[in-house]
Amino acid sequence: MDKLIIEGKSTLKGQVKISGSKNSALPILAATLLTEETCILANVPRLRDTDTMCKLLISLGKDVERVKDKVVIRQNKKLNYIADYDLVSTMRGSFCVLGPLLAKLNKVKVSMPGGCVIGIRPVDLHLKGIKALGAKVAIENGYVIAKCKRLKGTSLYLGGVFGSSVLATANIMMAATLAEGETIIESAACEPEIKDLAGFLKSMGAKIKGAGSPQIIIKGVSSLKGSKYKIIPDRIEAGTFMLMAAATKSSIAINGACLEHLMALVDKLNEAGVSIVKEGRSLRVKPARHIKAVSITTHPYPGFPTDLQAQFLSFMSLAKGISIITDKVYPDRFIHIAELNRMGANIRREGINAISEGGRVLFGAPVMASDLRASAALVIAGLAAEGKTEIHRIYHLERGYEDLDRKLALLGAKVCRAKE
Ligand code: EPU
Repeated sequence: MDKLIIEGKSTLKGQVKISGSKNSALPILAATLLTEETCILANVPRLRDTDTMCKLLISLGKDVERVKDKVVIRQNKKLNYIADYDLVSTMRGSFCVLGPLLAKLNKVKVSMPGGCVIGIRPVDLHLKGIKALGAKVAIENGYVIAKCKRLKGTSLYLGGVFGSSVLATANIMMAATLAEGETIIESAACEPEIKDLAGFLKSMGAKIKGAGSPQIIIKGVSSLKGSKYKIIPDRIEAGTFMLMAAATKSSIAINGACLEHLMALVDKLNEAGVSIVKEGRSLRVKPARHIKAVSITTHPYPGFPTDLQAQFLSFMSLAKGISIITDKVYPDRFIHIAELNRMGANIRREGINAISEGGRVLFGAPVMASDLRASAALVIAGLAAEGKTEIHRIYHLERGYEDLDRKLALLGAKVCRAKE
């Protein structure tokens, strides 16, 4: 296992290239199960999570070839309908093979993903969706088993207690592409990753309208064909680099990111005194002289993303004054507070709020990465802190940030990877 060693207080400079979106790539890779024809995906980030999804596709009967950011998916044998515990339990995103396998094979057995450190993470909306499409669903020995003749289009409301669900929307949209007749999903997730998935499905011949809005209409077709498709840039990686620059008071250029996908973050950065300016094809981060304390509340897109909450909290620990960080998507996603406090932050948790009394000097410390975005928050704190930070268990970072240590080193940060 590796650890990341960061010598803090360095200023970042230069430019960084953003990789393809992890949370687009995972459902899009799963969507290739909807066709026997070859699919070629470009801009797929090289991450532990995309590797896991490729392994899952192989276990289901696909041949997967990866060259740099390209993934070619072919099929030479019959698909298997069972997604095993071993792969699904390591990554929740694997659950999005449910919709495509059911639509394609009329039966599926997928391990229940279980909870994780960011919360309980139920799958009731996914199951509600496939039941509405006519599947008979049972849960046996930790597996979801679903069967149908052919899925039938319907109107369904997919909102839950915490708002819309990204992967439930993805699962039901994928399932509905091959269903008989029309499906209308109300309260669908509006995330750019859903629009991207719809873009890929349409390139395969699916008939989808409204993706990116709360109502998606899908007209089922009898089969889908192979396709070539390029995945959108990772907005969360781009946002994390913006916060790294903001926290170290650095001016860097972020290449290949999509500003429209980041407006909620940009708005809050502006409030804190940081400017984000378009410069040709790059986004330039111009740091604040004095970071102002601001509060955020996470919401489904286009609201402030929960996947940037931990990183923003880390940034706010450097701002003079009080900021309240509220997570309405994952109310328990605060495991990073304790580690940030070990570095000198002053954050307390009250229910779904983290209250940061910022402005103190952070100092380097040995800290433990607990999940992907919490780890990114520790990297931000480590870059801004005085002295040396050692982040243990960085395999969490490898799940979602391609070549993070190399990209940071290119920006002039003093980071290195070492064996535990
Ligand atoms: N929820 C339910 N029932 C369900 C599904 C979700 O109550 O059946 C709840 C969740 O517990 C949560 C809320 O609805 O409170 C939203 O969860 P959502 O289903 O949207 O999350 P997800 O689709 O499982 C994706 C991303 C997450 C990201 C969330 C929210 C992927 C592979 N994962 O998860 O990404 O946090 O949407 O935007 O797309 C990450 O990249 O670090 C990450 C965790």
